[in-house]
Amino acid sequence: MSLAPKKSEPITTIEIVFPEDSNHFQSLFGGRLLAWMDKASYYAAFRYSGFPAVTASVESLDFSHSPKVGDVLDIIASVIHTGRSSMVIKVDVFCQDVRHAQAKVLANTGFFNFVAKNEDGIPAEIPPLLVETFEEKQLWELGKNVKDQAAKRRDQAAQEE
Ligand SMILES: CC(C)(COP(=O)(O)OP(=O)(O)OC[C@H]1O[C@@H](n2cnc3c(N)ncnc32)[C@H](O)[C@@H]1OP(=O)(O)O)[C@@H](O)C(=O)NCCC(=O)NCCS
Repeated sequence: MSLAPKKSEPITTIEIVFPEDSNHFQSLFGGRLLAWMDKASYYAAFRYSGFPAVTASVESLDFSHSPKVGDVLDIIASVIHTGRSSMVIKVDVFCQDVRHAQAKVLANTGFFNFVAKNEDGIPAEIPPLLVETFEEKQLWELGKNVKDQAAKRRDQAAQEE
């Protein structure tokens, strides 16, 4: 019996950039941001599927703004596409310089592929995503593209072996 379709609910985590998170330019070290985004994706995948999930691949990551020490980040992760066991998570990072009362700016967007696993570590069947609105349909197509790109890369790697 197939599982009932389910709505995606974005999750938001907040991080503050401390000196130990920074690089030589007093801005946020990219690897730290990647870890925070990966963690937010994990939580979105877990909340959606009810299973622990693993990062299968990171399809793209664009840094458009450099968060500085003291800035506050809103990291918003949403499931935008589902397969049998896989989920594409879109993560948007908004940065705010709260000390100078600046508006939030989009600092980074990334797409993470997660796979739900059962207690035996086998990919587990998850509910299909319920896609209703125009925006949800657009995000679904974006997520499908991300999943297709990952599959294409794996096919190419397999051919080269
Ligand atoms: C990713 C992983 C779960 C795939 O397992 P597998 O047994 O090869 O799985 P399958 O080929 O049956 O594919 C299962 C699903 O994963 C997806 N998948 C597999 N590799 C993928 C990749 N590199 N990127 C995106 N999706 C991937 C498949 O498309 C499939 O999706 P679907 O069920 O929605 O159709 C497995 O390779 C793994 O556990 N890797 C290590 C993950 C890890 O340690 N991450 C870092 C720490 S969390």
